Parts: sequence; C-alpha cells; structure tokens
Amino acid sequence: MSAPAKKRVAILISGRGSNMTSLIEAARAADFPAEIALVLSNRPDAAGLDAARAEKIAAVALDHKQHDTREKFERAMHATLVEHGVDIVCLAGFMRLLTPWFVEQWRGKMLNIHPALLPSYKGLHTHERALADGVKIHGCTVHLVVPDMDAGPIVAQSAVPVLDSDTPETLAARVLAREHAIYPMALRLVASGAAGIVDGRVRGGGGASGDLTVPSATPRPSTA
Ligand code: GAR
Repeated sequence: MSAPAKKRVAILISGRGSNMTSLIEAARAADFPAEIALVLSNRPDAAGLDAARAEKIAAVALDHKQHDTREKFERAMHATLVEHGVDIVCLAGFMRLLTPWFVEQWRGKMLNIHPALLPSYKGLHTHERALADGVKIHGCTVHLVVPDMDAGPIVAQSAVPVLDSDTPETLAARVLAREHAIYPMALRLVASGAAGIVDGRVRGGGGASGDLTVPSATPRPSTA
C-alpha cells in the first residue's frame, strides 16, 4: 500500500524564521507526514524569506502595509495559501493579529508557537514577565489557533527551568531550543492525524517534553 500523501504546509513568518528552519529540516525526513510548500511573510525584509529561498521553497512577501485594511491583507494571504494548495498553516513568529474570518478559514488546520507555557503569559515580553514573577518553570507551547489570541487547544508543550542567573536573553535562548524541538513534533502529530480534538482538547500522541534539571545549585545571593 502506498504511503498517504504528505500534507502541504505554509509557514507564516515576520522575522528571522528560526522555527521555520526547524520545520523545514524536520520535513526533509522521508517519513515526515508534511512537506513545506510555502513560506509567506507580511514583512518583505524578513530574514526567513531568504533562508527559505536558499532551501528552494516558494517564498512570498505580502506586505500588510500595502493593504488598506486587515481584511484585504488577509484575503490576499488566504488566496495565496489556496493557490499553493496548502492544507496546514504554521504561524512561526508571525506578528500580526488575525481576524475571526481568517481563523475560521483555517479552523483546526492552523498552528501557532508561543514562547510561554500557555495559558500563562499570553501576549508579548513573555520571558521578561516570567522573570519578574519569579516563576521556576517556563517554556513554550504549540496550539491550534482560535479567534482569541494565544488560546486554542494545546498540541505540545515543553518546559525549561528558570535559573537564578537568567536574563530575558538567556531564558529566551533556552526556550527557543525547546521551540525548535516541539514545533516539528506538534506538526507531525497533527499532519499524521495521531492527535485530534476531542471535547475541545487535543488528545493523542503525547505532546509533553522538557528537562527541568538545574545545572548546579547556586548559593542564595546576599541581601546586605
Ligand atoms: C519565537 O520565539 C516565537 O515563539 C515567537 O516569536 C519568535 C520567532 O522566532 N512568537 C510569538 O511571540 C508569537 N506571539 P523565529 O522567527 O526565530 O522563529
């Protein structure tokens, strides 16, 4: 029996595209259930576009500033996705809010990666806010997109420890390494059908990962 057809994936980016690269690399595996058919950016200067072209992947810039309304921009994006025969959309550092209309077009077929353990720390500056709160565990989440921002059924999460010595930058780097691991895992689960929604929650295939080992115990800093 022949293998099922690979799902065609579009990755939407706004910047450097390191998560995009991790998806492209994962999709090279013969047994990966998805292929990257398109990279689309709302910013023509996004570094990720060049990286995608270097991989011989169709890369399209649709500048949101060239469209008078969010709806017109999204209709142009949707038309491009349909033109490329896209089955699944992966938001990877795509920094535009999406209207309920666009989300509805891709309901159950659009994933997002967020640099925090949702439902904690929705929105921006997640690492700064986690450090300010003194949380000991932080991480990242891949979820299906719904009209509410950074909500939607969770497909995969990975946890990292927060160290006393962390700055927003060191914490971001530790989380980003986990993002690069869980986004391909989540896409595999969704594209293969191993994970699916039951009663509003994603079930099947696992989806939890992380390593909470703290490298070495650090002494309590002096308050004097
Ligand atoms: C990633 O950390 C991603 O989680 C975050 O933007 C970064 C993009 O990096 N996304 C959001 O904050 C979405 N709200 P990348 O371009 O190197 O993948």
